Amino acid sequence: MSRPLRVAIVGAGPAGTYAADILVRAQEAEGKSVSIDLFERLPAPFGLVRYGVAPDHPRIKGIITALHKVLERDEIRLLGNVNFGTDITLADLRRHYDAVIFSTGCVLDADLDVPGIDLPGSYGAADFVAWFDGHPDYPRTWPLEAEKVAVLGAGNVALDVARILAKHADDLLPTEIPDNVYQGLKANPVREVHVFGRRGPAQVKFSPLELRELGHVPDVDVVVHPEDFEFDEGSEAAINSSNQTKQVVQTLMNWTTIEPEEQTASRQLHLHFLQRPVEIFGDGKVEGIRMERMELDGTGNVKGTGEFIDYPVQAVYRAVGYFGSPLDGIPFDAAKGVIRNVEGRVVDESGAVVPGVYATGWIKRGPVGLIGHTKSDASETVTHLRSDLDALTPAADGDPESILRLLEERNVPYTTWDGWLALDAHERALGEPHGRARIKVVPRDEMTAISRGA
Ligand SMILES: Cc1cc2nc3c(=O)[nH]c(=O)nc-3n(C[C@H](O)[C@H](O)[C@H](O)COP(=O)(O)OP(=O)(O)OC[C@H]3O[C@@H](n4cnc5c(N)ncnc54)[C@H](O)[C@@H]3O)c2cc1C
Ligand SMILES: NC(=O)c1ccc[n+]([C@@H]2O[C@H](COP(=O)([O-])OP(=O)(O)OC[C@H]3O[C@@H](n4cnc5c(N)ncnc54)[C@H](OP(=O)(O)O)[C@@H]3O)[C@@H](O)[C@H]2O)c1
Repeated sequence: MSRPLRVAIVGAGPAGTYAADILVRAQEAEGKSVSIDLFERLPAPFGLVRYGVAPDHPRIKGIITALHKVLERDEIRLLGNVNFGTDITLADLRRHYDAVIFSTGCVLDADLDVPGIDLPGSYGAADFVAWFDGHPDYPRTWPLEAEKVAVLGAGNVALDVARILAKHADDLLPTEIPDNVYQGLKANPVREVHVFGRRGPAQVKFSPLELRELGHVPDVDVVVHPEDFEFDEGSEAAINSSNQTKQVVQTLMNWTTIEPEEQTASRQLHLHFLQRPVEIFGDGKVEGIRMERMELDGTGNVKGTGEFIDYPVQAVYRAVGYFGSPLDGIPFDAAKGVIRNVEGRVVDESGAVVPGVYATGWIKRGPVGLIGHTKSDASETVTHLRSDLDALTPAADGDPESILRLLEERNVPYTTWDGWLALDAHERALGEPHGRARIKVVPRDEMTAISRGA
């Protein structure tokens, strides 16, 4: 080919951005050129780093600086506010690119099949996270009316949700939270947040740092319950084989020694283990949750005891994992919520490779893992893409201007890297008089208008 390799990447979260970076570097190392268009449905890049990572984790949000450096490369062109499936299709991408990588992540909450899950007052963690992180496609207000709240799940998202619910709004004010989120949290009457893990303390999926952080939240006491501390052979094996598990269990054990009279904060964050949700109940709205006491079966798994405990709560948040959404025309494994693929090569139902179509990140392997893990993911996908290059059918129209004409013909108000720089500068300027790094702009039309200089 006399022109540079043309690749479309759909989804400008960490997975898509790392894939772009790795592809540019690999081509460069062999003296070959590449030109990448990175399509993103939002007017802002960075995926869950901007719209998932908690606002009071500025160090992790700082990964944006590294992603920014990638996106400012000449070989990569950001096309924001473009939704794959409505604004552009697979046929469009096949016509204009030699290969396509999907990195659309997972945005929805996994279902939880428990009676009462649809009662008013029962929420998905992903929706709450999107609200407090100022995602443009979610409602501006959130009903924070409960004094007692249950959070289901023992992963890091459950910790984020519980911490943001328990924290005083003024302690979040130095962060980038938009004003509507500050006002909502300021009115939050919460007194008790109860986090429930269905297995034991050695089976939780909390990270040690994130767990320890709970102990330092101002005016919030962490409460654990000694009757929840059970360890079987599987637990001992887990503790002995993982330093992380050892640290997590140690932190939890330390909290068992705190005397009740030492706990004087106005808000309490309870961590419960070995309890599985059985029913969310209430007359037209959440009034309580019934949990079944579980016991370890020797392997680290659990079985029911038939003993039930009712907790009076007015809201329930399920943080039991995220789930991927299908994309038009792309083979999808509905059971796992991922694009069908083998090591990033998209395959159809019969297992045959779909030439020139790849996946990476959470939509490739499911909603588990840290930002850094999307790098090794991207590396695997890009390696396969590059080894397939000779066999791929080149784009019929590889002119980089053609896709822009197509978007314009369709009246898609796409945004660009310069547009993001304008929005970024605007958000920083909003924060500056208040001594804050930035204040997020939330409404999509406002984000788009600022990006497009309108
Ligand atoms: C609440 C939460 C907090 C987290 N906190 C941390 C943390 O503190 N530290 C850490 O290491 N990891 C954290 N993670 C994990 C981390 O966010 C993920 O590992 C990572 O974001 C996955 O990257 P991704 O690019 O696959 O998906 P995403 O980050 O979700 O990016 C996908 C991108 O694709 C775009 N997209 C989706 N559909 C379309 C479409 N149809 N057309 C165009 N674009 C589309 C989305 O808008 C998004 O920008 C957290 C996860 C969650 C859920
Ligand atoms: N600060 C950070 O570093 C940070 C912050 C947020 C997210 N993340 C990462 O993002 C990824 C996703 O996090 P996540 O918290 O959504 O997922 P996760 O780590 O997979 O945790 C999900 C939790 O939900 C529980 N669960 C699942 N189904 C359940 C059911 N039917 N009933 C009761 N409990 C159920 C799981 O219990 P079982 O184990 O028993 O299945 C587990 O405790 C993780 O890799 C996480 O580390 C990182």
